[in-house]
Amino acid sequence: MTSDLIAGPTTSRGEADDLGLDLAVLLSGRRVVCVGGGAVTARRVRRFLDAGALVEVISPVATDEVAELAASGEIRWTARPYAGPADLAGAWLVHTATGVRSVDAAVAADAEAQRTFCVDASAAGRGSAHVLASRRVETAAGPLRVAVHGGGDPRRAAGVAASVAAEVAAGAHDVRARRRRAGVGWVALVGGGPGDPGLLTLAGWQALRAADVVVVDRLAPREVLAALPSDVRIIDVGKAPGNHLMRQEDITETLVREARAGWGVVRLKGGDPYVLGRGGEERERLDAEGIPVRVVPGVTSAIAGPAAAGIPVTHRGLADGFTVVSAHDQLGAVPLRRDHTLVFLMGVARLASIVTTLVAGGHDPETPAAIVERAHRQGQRTTVARLADLPAVAERVGVQNPAVIVVGDVVTVSPHWAG
Ligand SMILES: C[S@@+](CC[C@H](N)C(=O)[O-])C[C@H]1O[C@@H](n2cnc3c(N)ncnc32)[C@H](O)[C@@H]1O
Repeated sequence: MTSDLIAGPTTSRGEADDLGLDLAVLLSGRRVVCVGGGAVTARRVRRFLDAGALVEVISPVATDEVAELAASGEIRWTARPYAGPADLAGAWLVHTATGVRSVDAAVAADAEAQRTFCVDASAAGRGSAHVLASRRVETAAGPLRVAVHGGGDPRRAAGVAASVAAEVAAGAHDVRARRRRAGVGWVALVGGGPGDPGLLTLAGWQALRAADVVVVDRLAPREVLAALPSDVRIIDVGKAPGNHLMRQEDITETLVREARAGWGVVRLKGGDPYVLGRGGEERERLDAEGIPVRVVPGVTSAIAGPAAAGIPVTHRGLADGFTVVSAHDQLGAVPLRRDHTLVFLMGVARLASIVTTLVAGGHDPETPAAIVERAHRQGQRTTVARLADLPAVAERVGVQNPAVIVVGDVVTVSPHWAG
């Protein structure tokens, strides 16, 4: 693991230009000697241990934390005062924080004489090595460490490190790997929500910020693509030349091909990948190919669509459950009750046959119903009618895809319902 240390060059011997050089050092399996056993040492020992160092503390007294680490065998504690250069033998790094300036100066001088880097806690900003304020951030393209040198002001450094780390976590920065991986890349199946970029999740945006290639659907929130760097490759599978949709098998092949070539790929879908979105099939294939894949859930149009028109899919006293169904099948299996909300996706072309089947099956033809077109998109429109009248009303106003159809008493909650 990379440590959080930075070595500063000396502009002239012993006089550090403390912002001059950044150098991460690897402490894993390496001996680090800490002189002094107080609170500063305790904090730093934790970090050295996190970096995998073999830590020895030399101090006649120590804080409880240091004593406990020694008792549990995680560090070695030599309980006596610093005894001279022999104490530093074999150390890759020395840390001195005794609280006594003359002792720290002696330790630093001994370390210098044996050419071992030394962090001198009582000489902020000087010494041959400095500890940075640092934060580890997980990104879809792998972990990053944000490390800040505060020029001798550790609080300032900690504040900046925390805020930059938060920005990275929020997707404010381009965190792509910038080169093709030698082996296989990765795929994230990202649910983009119903279309409004504001309804893309933070996890979805983070994945986009790490992607080399974005394979995008017609109903995905395409506006967000404009905010990506111009060298991110966009593959539009919503409309191939001639206005034909790319076949599902070809889309899946594209994901496999791009990930096999070593790229980080986001498959940006509308709504949620697992709600009538064929995300399951894509995942199965990628799993079978041994390609790392993760699914980022999205806001589904099945719920957000009705909500855009003020229709809650459940509402106390009106509906305790709801069913989402593709218009194409399953019609015979849905509950035919006004207090159970039915939400149809991909139903516009077959609206008349849906209504006929529902009413023939025993659904109350007076049930309130609504069609929400282009929910959370430019040109959103809501049309309401009693179930039996819905096809005629829809035809009269010229309802078009994309649209969700909602059937149930919950429609009366909408401001669009006038009875
Ligand atoms: C192939 S399905 C994908 C559903 C998607 N996975 C989801 O969770 O929203 C496409 C259908 O979703 C619905 N849809 C998607 N976005 C919509 C929107 N913004 N407004 C209304 N309906 C939408 C329409 O019924 C459309 O025909």
